[in-house]
Amino acid sequence: MKITVVGAGAVGASCAEYIAIKNFASEVVLLDIKEGYAEGKAMDLMQCASLNGFDTKIIGTTNDYSKTANSDICVVTSGIPRKPGMTREELIGINAGIVKAVTASLIEHSPNTILIIVSNPMDTMTYLAHKTTNLPKHRIIGMGGALDSARFKYRLAEALEAPISDIDGMVIGGHSDTGMVPLTSHATRNSINITEFLSEDRLQQVKEDTKVGGATLTKLLGTSAWYAPGAAVSALVQAIACDQKKMFPCSTLLNGEYDLKDLCIGVPVILGRNGIERIVDVPLSKAEKEHMQKSAEGVKNTNGLLEV
Ligand code: 2OP
Repeated sequence: MKITVVGAGAVGASCAEYIAIKNFASEVVLLDIKEGYAEGKAMDLMQCASLNGFDTKIIGTTNDYSKTANSDICVVTSGIPRKPGMTREELIGINAGIVKAVTASLIEHSPNTILIIVSNPMDTMTYLAHKTTNLPKHRIIGMGGALDSARFKYRLAEALEAPISDIDGMVIGGHSDTGMVPLTSHATRNSINITEFLSEDRLQQVKEDTKVGGATLTKLLGTSAWYAPGAAVSALVQAIACDQKKMFPCSTLLNGEYDLKDLCIGVPVILGRNGIERIVDVPLSKAEKEHMQKSAEGVKNTNGLLEV
């Protein structure tokens, strides 16, 4: 199993690190445009191998796509991250050109690959990949919901003063501060709905904290987060590589599911060796349905800024 990660910045490198530590891939290629940077990160990571007990070979390259040839899965993290006070949507001007060029080069060398898009604004970048590549829809996946759901579970565990392993929950919708739809109607602690434990006000606070999860970290760190984004990508990569048939909310091209069409937005999907093997249509409360429609309008507005 060969995996390429484009962008050796913080998200790309932590993604490569988590993939290696989980030890399911034979090779990870880390590619960056900055001279020597990916090579350096790869060497540093390889020097963890004997300490962390993995055999995955990590190779770094400065923009040489021939090294990525025949990758089973390609992750695109390239582009600029947001600075404090910026929205993900503001990155579109620079990142659209980068994502378009990167995906074209990847597919030239790995025509059978599965693409995972991480670059922001992620739902729009995933849509761009659909518009500009000929890959079938099940082989283009946007990573946002897995991360947002992890942040939701973190906030729920905090509010309930419970261990995170007791908590289950999902965030669907657009990967943006206003677009995320935390599904409180389905969130549970040990199969009991969280509404049994939390007041409406506390739950509202959890939802708000979840939606600005990325912005809160950007303010604290001065740039966007990397550990949880890297871990979330590696979980998707593992589900595909190991054919786990796991369910994650991912951004995918919809054609009538959730009453939405012609956009990529986060919905629950089953991930296996073929990429997105099924879109799962779950029942939503009235408020969640309305929020999902609003979220889709936001994503479509951002898609409207693309020049394709
Ligand atoms: C985040 O939410 C990087 O968009 C990513 O942290």
